[in-house]
Amino acid sequence: MVDTARRDTGVEGVEGGVGLTALLVAAARAIETHRPDSLAQDSYAEHFVRAAPASAAWPVRIREVPDGDSNPLWGRFARYFGLRTRVLDDFVLQSVHTGGARQVVLLGAGLDSRAFRLDWPPGCVVFEVDREGVLAFKHQVLGELSATPKTTRIPISTDLRADWAGALTNAGFDTAAPTVWLVEGLLFYLPHAAETYLISTVDRLSAQGSALAFEVKLDKDLLEYRDSPLYTSTHRQLGIDLLSLFSREPRPDSATALAGKGWSTSVRTPFDFTRRHGRGPLPEANDALAGNRWVFANKPQP
Ligand SMILES: C[S@@+](CC[C@H](N)C(=O)[O-])C[C@H]1O[C@@H](n2cnc3c(N)ncnc32)[C@H](O)[C@@H]1O
Repeated sequence: MVDTARRDTGVEGVEGGVGLTALLVAAARAIETHRPDSLAQDSYAEHFVRAAPASAAWPVRIREVPDGDSNPLWGRFARYFGLRTRVLDDFVLQSVHTGGARQVVLLGAGLDSRAFRLDWPPGCVVFEVDREGVLAFKHQVLGELSATPKTTRIPISTDLRADWAGALTNAGFDTAAPTVWLVEGLLFYLPHAAETYLISTVDRLSAQGSALAFEVKLDKDLLEYRDSPLYTSTHRQLGIDLLSLFSREPRPDSATALAGKGWSTSVRTPFDFTRRHGRGPLPEANDALAGNRWVFANKPQP
């Protein structure tokens, strides 16, 4: 078991602290990939899981889980991540193919392999922003697979609690070009001020025609769901104490802040998409997903 009991463990890679959550999502995507009714395909995910000592023994197929889909972590929670992957795949593909954006920024990219697995129109560039240790692990695994991205890919090592805008613009980000921003599974780990800075920076760097999708938790008291099967099974089976990794500060209302800056916003529950796709998690009692919202925002054209 890996100790994630303190928020700032100092662990920079995927072996502990918040970096380990990138492996959790990768394992969920691996399981989703091999389901007969999968919502998203990520053939790289299981390679990340197998390559890290911390996760090498985790399941990458639902048949490897003794209690299968009734396991709260590898059943319901993994399906949640599979659904999220699919919904954000659709969002980014729609934004580049129909919306015309050619610049994509993944904030807290983790082991996201979209640059390698999605069909991009010509001329796209994908910036992947995460901490150095996570991106170094990703580079190593993808290198061993001789994986080739399907578009231009630029990893950027930086801490999103600091001023990351300079790192992005130094890496070639074009403030005049419409951008698709994905902030998937990140904001609950950041302090209030870092989320406020992130949202205002996205607005400042976004040309008209840009699009943003992000995930938040509305819960006023995160501990209300501390006995939720999702939290307790993740802690018990993997040693990942998500509640100790999440920021306990009150959350900013980022969707309303963006609307105030002229963005059009739509706030949805994951369950909306479960119903649309016919699979994924549905509401249940004592549900750690009850406060999760997926926000989709567009900065209108003039
Ligand atoms: C749950 S993972 C999600 C990864 C990816 N977006 C996905 O959905 O597969 C959270 C990611 O956020 C990154 N992260 C958390 N805090 C960060 C920070 N302060 N600066 C940069 N990255 C951070 C972690 O390293 C990790 O890769």
